[in-house]
Amino acid sequence: MSVRSSGSRALLLADAAKEFAADVQYYLTLHPRQLPSRYLYDALGSALFDAICRLPWYGITRAEARLLETHGPDVFDRLERVSTIVELGSGDGEKLRVLVQSGASHARPLTIHFVDVSSAALTASARTLSELDEVAIVLHETTYEAGLEELAEQPRTAGRTLAVFLGSNIGNFDAPGADEFLRAIRRGLLPGDGLLLGADLVKPERALRLAYDDPLGVTAAFNRNLLVRINRELGGDFDVDAFGHRAVWNEAASRVEMHLVAQRAQRVRIPAAELEVSFDQGERIWTESSYKYEPKQIVAMLESAGFQCAAQWIDAVDRFALTLVEAV
Ligand SMILES: C[S@@+](CC[C@H](N)C(=O)[O-])C[C@H]1O[C@@H](n2cnc3c(N)ncnc32)[C@H](O)[C@@H]1O
Repeated sequence: MSVRSSGSRALLLADAAKEFAADVQYYLTLHPRQLPSRYLYDALGSALFDAICRLPWYGITRAEARLLETHGPDVFDRLERVSTIVELGSGDGEKLRVLVQSGASHARPLTIHFVDVSSAALTASARTLSELDEVAIVLHETTYEAGLEELAEQPRTAGRTLAVFLGSNIGNFDAPGADEFLRAIRRGLLPGDGLLLGADLVKPERALRLAYDDPLGVTAAFNRNLLVRINRELGGDFDVDAFGHRAVWNEAASRVEMHLVAQRAQRVRIPAAELEVSFDQGERIWTESSYKYEPKQIVAMLESAGFQCAAQWIDAVDRFALTLVEAV
């Protein structure tokens, strides 16, 4: 196995710090105040997310792993001659290991590109896949969109490309954003290439609330860590204790929203973002949306982005869908 990183990491890190400061300045002055969910994933955020995946109330990870284990062989039967896999937002890489080991023994040699904003996630993904023979790994520490652009510049190898977008990461995009992003993935593929999309389904409100506001407080720590990150990286003076975690099921929009709620009125300075913000008591910062879908809606979204459905598998226990489509 070989591992290499794309681009100059030092340069990327300087750009990423500037972008973080600019985004904090822009999004925290919107009403309602917001922060993009991708900033939840610094090293501690990635570790807390891994812990969330082990919680009894977060069924997404186990449901998707079950589907990958059972239907992994079908993926590679329906999509023969895969020579490249691109995983967007891989987390610890465990799901891709399950997929590759379940059915891709004939897909060798294989190049796997991991695109993730979290360097901790990329390191973990490379380690997780490190035992596989005849696999070359390329790490792209960047956003999904920039990663797709980087990949478009790389020469194609013979064989098909399979893009993989798991964990219901698609649910973090708002509705037009999700459609646009699926079209961006399609533009990076050739006819006959594949996309495997894992997306969470609408389920009873109690199950959704427990998944995003667990009794152990791990999801609350994951959310509040964003303020810890702003304090550390941008010199902010958020009193982290003065913000509570709130998860709300917005049925009309079919999404779970995560917010940080000011427990008292306060003023916060963030020097690197050249920002001072006053919060009223009860004022919220919206940090993440997780849209929930119906199976047919997922197929319709993919078809309108230029794909044809090859298969859809559903986990009936935790209500989760894995959809395999081919670029047309
Ligand atoms: C919800 S986790 C899912 C991880 C894994 N796919 C799974 O199913 O367990 C989202 C992952 O995507 C990464 N991520 C989130 N937003 C991103 C973005 N806009 N661009 C690139 N990576 C992103 C995070 O660092 C994290 O590793």
